[in-house]
Amino acid sequence: MSGATEPIQEYFDEFVAAADHPVVVVTTESAGRRAGCLVGFATQVSIDPRRYLVGLSKANNTFRVAADAAALAVHLLDAGQLPLARLFGSESGDGLDKFTHCEWHPGPDGLPILSAAPGWFTGKILERYDFGDHVGVLLEPTTGQMRGGHPAVLRYGAVAHLTPGHPS
Ligand SMILES: Cc1cc2nc3c(=O)[nH]c(=O)nc-3n(C[C@H](O)[C@H](O)[C@H](O)COP(=O)(O)O)c2cc1C
Repeated sequence: MSGATEPIQEYFDEFVAAADHPVVVVTTESAGRRAGCLVGFATQVSIDPRRYLVGLSKANNTFRVAADAAALAVHLLDAGQLPLARLFGSESGDGLDKFTHCEWHPGPDGLPILSAAPGWFTGKILERYDFGDHVGVLLEPTTGQMRGGHPAVLRYGAVAHLTPGHPS
């Protein structure tokens, strides 16, 4: 059990691990380039209006493609979709076209939609915030689809062991 004297970074990391948030796959498209990566930093940040924030690492290919994009697609994964999480979290678009290794279809705004995802939405990019090694991308939800029911989604604890395709 951690105590109040533990260094804050260690305590904070333990807190986040215990929270075990869902992870998502964020995809985007710009000038014919498709990109996408596994994202743990993603959450709703306003109710009225609905707003969602995605944190993209400046090291990632997805960040570079998103820099010129007007929209992002955010996908939930089923708890059993570890291979898809590994494809998007441990491989980089710098060296591999991830979209030749999974099923996808073109969605709104030309965004690549992962066909196996139990739920997804697309969002118009409203703002970008420089947080440090990650940039926060603020989204206005525009459209989406849920497969029905509430899927058991993939959470951080199930993917924390993956080696990121890019060090952050
Ligand atoms: C558990 C886990 C969580 C991650 N969370 C994020 C994140 O919140 N934001 C981000 O940009 N990358 C995150 N990554 C890293 C990217 O998914 C990874 O570096 C990916 O290979 C980048 O691909 P790309 O270069 O094609 O964009 C995470 C990776 C893992 C394994």
